[in-house]
Amino acid sequence: MKEVLVIGAGYVGLITGVSLAEIGNSVTCLDVDSHKIETLKKGKTPIYEPGLDDYLTKNINEGRLNFTTDYKAAVEKSEIIYIAVGTPENEEGAANLEYLFNVVEELKKYINNEKIVVVKSTVPIGTNRKVQDELSQLPYNINVVSNPEFLREGTAFYDAFNGDRIVIGGYDENSISVIEDINKPFGIEIFKTTTESAEMIKYASNAFLATKISFVNEIANICELVGADIQDVSKGMGMDTRIGNKFLNAGIGYGGSCFPKDTKALSYLSKQLNFDPLIIESIIERNNRQKLSLVDKYNNFSEMKDEAIGLLGLSFKPNTDDLREAASLSIIEKLNEMGKEIYAYDPISGGIAQEKLGDKIKVLKSSDELLEKVSVVFIVTEWDEFKNLEFSKNKKYEIYDGRNILETDSIPVNSKYYRIGR
Ligand code: NAD
Ligand code: UGA
Repeated sequence: MKEVLVIGAGYVGLITGVSLAEIGNSVTCLDVDSHKIETLKKGKTPIYEPGLDDYLTKNINEGRLNFTTDYKAAVEKSEIIYIAVGTPENEEGAANLEYLFNVVEELKKYINNEKIVVVKSTVPIGTNRKVQDELSQLPYNINVVSNPEFLREGTAFYDAFNGDRIVIGGYDENSISVIEDINKPFGIEIFKTTTESAEMIKYASNAFLATKISFVNEIANICELVGADIQDVSKGMGMDTRIGNKFLNAGIGYGGSCFPKDTKALSYLSKQLNFDPLIIESIIERNNRQKLSLVDKYNNFSEMKDEAIGLLGLSFKPNTDDLREAASLSIIEKLNEMGKEIYAYDPISGGIAQEKLGDKIKVLKSSDELLEKVSVVFIVTEWDEFKNLEFSKNKKYEIYDGRNILETDSIPVNSKYYRIGR
């Protein structure tokens, strides 16, 4: 059992903290957002993530998990400190390391003895070295270990206990072993490497997954021109184990808090080093265009251009309330520019979206209400409940399916149905 402090109680910090408590450690999660910490202290979750409620309650009740905003007390009692603050994109497309180095400043104030500092946040290659250099100024033996996170939102706990690998990079063998030991109860293969390689594995993995998506979207666009069906093409390609059958779903591009920012940060870093990242740049450009492909189809084919448009789904993917870089936002911005009236429904993120977007959209309470209200429907997020939509039998719709989720026999007669790559 270790005394662990996790700094940053966002998606990654919370899942990390709760999972480390679940395998028996004593964990404190710290955040500068006092409202978030008050919510968590009451056992309530500030984010929507399946399973989080139950794990949170269980570990608080069993005395292994607590929450604080008090840096001094939390740092002093910890043996291992995880940093899991955000590294969002800045104006130039680089990773903004302001939050990370704010944490480092706090650590410099309060570290009172030997500790291991684990960087979970996704950080540009070379950042762990800078954190180590800063903390090496202290009169204690502080070792920095890189341990990037690979969880997916919506399946975060499944990933925490069943992920494909845990990557650990570091400078000090003993600290690497401690972090290896703390991770052993997860039963996931551990891959040890250098700090810089660990940092690069994170960026390269996200960029590669983004590549698969942008590639399959490009093929989908060509499929539409030549009369092939991307669903079958993806299936046939994926049967080759060298290609693999995952991440070949064509759609309206990738969103979320990571693929967009991490591809841009890797591109930025390469350019800083005078290297031209040709492939990564193309992935980003294909994705930007793909996000608007439903609007392009609507502009080309719609016979209902005076009517309001209804969006089904707002979050960047199902089972999360996260709207960051969601295709819905690009679509709404474009439709707004075009002067369209927009209705929307999302099972979880409707309220957050209404707050964020104000009068740009009108959020409705159900997909039934939306299908009553509008005739032009964009399917933006593939929530399970949209797979069996109840269309009004005597109404004519135009349906633009950005996730290829509907069966053609569910489309009412006289309605038009447009998909991606089919
Ligand atoms: P987030 O925005 O959800 O949470 C970050 C938290 O850090 C916030 O609660 C914020 O209040 C807190 N914070 C900021 N400055 C602080 C400070 N000085 N001291 C204490 N707390 C502070 O971010 P996230 O989505 O959890 O991402 C965190 C990191 O993990 C990023 O680098 C991201 O790229 C990476 N990552 C995210 C995911 C994901 O699915 N979200 C997956 C893998 C890796
Ligand atoms: C992704 C990675 O999968 C995680 O391993 C990584 O830890 C995380 O980024 C991160 O670094 O934050 P996440 O963004 O939660 O996780 O979601 P994904 O399931 O990867 O989906 C990302 C986007 O790609 C979604 O918008 C999704 O709709 C899209 N996607 C995914 C496709 O368009 N097609 C696919 O075949 C798969």
